[in-house]
Amino acid sequence: MNNSVETETLQDKIENLLRKHGPEPPEYEELLSLVDAMEASEVEAFREAMQPILTPDTIIGFSFTKPFGYNGDFFIIEKIYQRYVNPDEHFRRWDEFFHTFPAAIAVVNRKALARKVLAELNSKAAGKQREVLILGSGPVTEVYEYFNENPANTLRFDLLDLDNRSIAYAKNKHRNNLHCMNFQNQNVIRFNPEKQYDLIWSAGLFDYFKDKHFVFLIRRYYEFVKEGGEMIIGNFNVENPSRKIMEVLGDWFLYHRSVDELNDFARRAGIPDDKISVIQEPLGINLFLRLRK
Ligand SMILES: C[S@@+](CC[C@H](N)C(=O)[O-])C[C@H]1O[C@@H](n2cnc3c(N)ncnc32)[C@H](O)[C@@H]1O
Repeated sequence: MNNSVETETLQDKIENLLRKHGPEPPEYEELLSLVDAMEASEVEAFREAMQPILTPDTIIGFSFTKPFGYNGDFFIIEKIYQRYVNPDEHFRRWDEFFHTFPAAIAVVNRKALARKVLAELNSKAAGKQREVLILGSGPVTEVYEYFNENPANTLRFDLLDLDNRSIAYAKNKHRNNLHCMNFQNQNVIRFNPEKQYDLIWSAGLFDYFKDKHFVFLIRRYYEFVKEGGEMIIGNFNVENPSRKIMEVLGDWFLYHRSVDELNDFARRAGIPDDKISVIQEPLGINLFLRLRK
């Protein structure tokens, strides 16, 4: 891509893709390889060329333009969970392409993992009420699906989110479940829990925190895990094949972390070795630090 012939080829490819309103499945691999091989100095020109689809009309453009002011808002996460595809033919193929990204599949997978963890806690409860705290709750779709699958629910939820629009969305979605849900518009960094929890769960939040904040937060929240309870904190793995395209086209940057780094954070937070493990969704792209007590 560094000489004029190759640059022209890239330009042609982009124009061709835009003319036919996005890639078809046989073209996905080539487009992904092209982005993976891209130098930092080429990103701006590439984004400029892709401008017609880097609008909120496509999921990748929604990420790029950030209508809510930041990456990872409840709305884009819900679009990923629902595998939303814009029916407009100008954008449809781009959304279909997006949902094939391993990172997007891993996000859907993490919702299934959350439902499983909640269902297991509920089945252990034997009719006794169990307390769950969710940090950075977003659309709360995992709990919504858990409720649908577990009508005999014994879990009670405290849900924290910094964005009131996220809370308004989730409250409306859960309007029939509010008797066992307490939404709070809170920053998890400042929040002081008033009780102990059987489960503290967080996905899609700690990937935005620096290491020192990660360690600080697990140390503090671990104090609010009941004996026999657990805290489960998600983070994208350093092995994320979609990282480059999310950064280049989505302008979506995360702190990616390895299993070893997550284990190390837990040790630095003073959590005993035998209480620490790391689990993952089936693709291994979303890791979860699991801290038992
Ligand atoms: C990527 S979403 C994940 C939502 C949900 N946990 C899930 O996995 O579907 C992150 C959410 O965390 C919220 N958030 C970001 N920073 C926060 C903070 N410091 N305190 C509380 N919530 C925060 C955002 O508003 C957003 O709703």
